[in-house]
Amino acid sequence: MRAVLITRYGPADTMRVGEVEAPHAGPREIRIRVVASGLTPADTYLRAGRLRESIALRLPHVTGVDAAGVVDEVGAGVTGVAPGDAVFGLTDPARLGGAHAEHAVLVAWAAKPTAWSWDEAGGAAGNVETATRVLDRLGVGAGAGRTVLVHGAAGGVGTVAVQLAAARGATVVGTASEGNHDLLRSLGAAPTTYGPGLAERVGALAPGGVDAVLDCAGGTLPELIGIAGDAARVVTIADLDAAAHGVHLSHSAPVTEMDGAAVGDADPMAVHGLRAAAALAAEGRLRVPVAATFPLAEAAAAHELSESRHARGKIVLRAGPDA
Ligand SMILES: NC(=O)c1ccc[n+]([C@@H]2O[C@H](COP(=O)([O-])OP(=O)(O)OC[C@H]3O[C@@H](n4cnc5c(N)ncnc54)[C@H](OP(=O)(O)O)[C@@H]3O)[C@@H](O)[C@H]2O)c1
Repeated sequence: MRAVLITRYGPADTMRVGEVEAPHAGPREIRIRVVASGLTPADTYLRAGRLRESIALRLPHVTGVDAAGVVDEVGAGVTGVAPGDAVFGLTDPARLGGAHAEHAVLVAWAAKPTAWSWDEAGGAAGNVETATRVLDRLGVGAGAGRTVLVHGAAGGVGTVAVQLAAARGATVVGTASEGNHDLLRSLGAAPTTYGPGLAERVGALAPGGVDAVLDCAGGTLPELIGIAGDAARVVTIADLDAAAHGVHLSHSAPVTEMDGAAVGDADPMAVHGLRAAAALAAEGRLRVPVAATFPLAEAAAAHELSESRHARGKIVLRAGPDA
């Protein structure tokens, strides 16, 4: 099958599409014929070798951690899904890849909502998993976190986090460049710009204070802690200095720690919010803003757009035609 490959560490133009053997679904897994898959900043860090000290990739490495497509293999022990079903989901987080290809093996999935295009579904799962994990940790919708600040709200994770927080009943403030403020309003957040004076601007939008902060941008934890009033009310997904500030840095967990006993069955939270997100999508309450779509062969251009740090929403790779 064709797949986007990291064959050596380097700039975006070192990526190439090559032939690799198609994977097969193991126990509790499914395989899909991929229609669309999401690009995340982590794909670019892996390619550039920024994570090589801590993560040893076996090269060639097939990139991508989430995808949508049509089921074409069902592993042992899997129920509730059959070949021909349209789904979206996650590859095994321990593999850090496998989605930017014509076939992908998923360890967690949900039925693709008909309200979503293939591009939206292809870019959804990773951001839904991340946003769900962090909002759960912050207690948003469970008594805490009535007012939430999403810092870096116009990106892939931020756009989904804003909507999930709003769906949990929170009042949401989001930071973005001015050109993305209408987008944030349309997703349910009161927008403001990031940069100097953030605390004052957020204070004006949330005079009752901020109960929880999701940092999707990094680099400004002291200010975010000041806004929340307590480091325990801040969770970052993007700041490697988190520990020095007493802030929790949230990572996706290996599948064995992801409530693995229920992965693939009927419990929505067992699939990391995927089914809950699909239900919201069906009600028209969750969309996945797509910044741009590229064919697999143009993965390098997709990486360059991600590295600009100003894509509006999710960058998606197309592996095949609509099903
Ligand atoms: N730990 C985890 O589990 C996990 C999971 C997913 C992602 N991440 C990390 O989380 C970060 C966000 O991921 P993503 O997929 O949402 O990225 P993304 O889609 O590339 O985010 C781009 C957004 O970042 C905003 N931005 C750029 N510079 C900013 C700044 N100085 N302050 C605030 N916002 C800024 C941009 O907003 P404007 O264009 O409006 O300026 C843009 O909309 C990345 O570092 C990624 O590696 C971590």
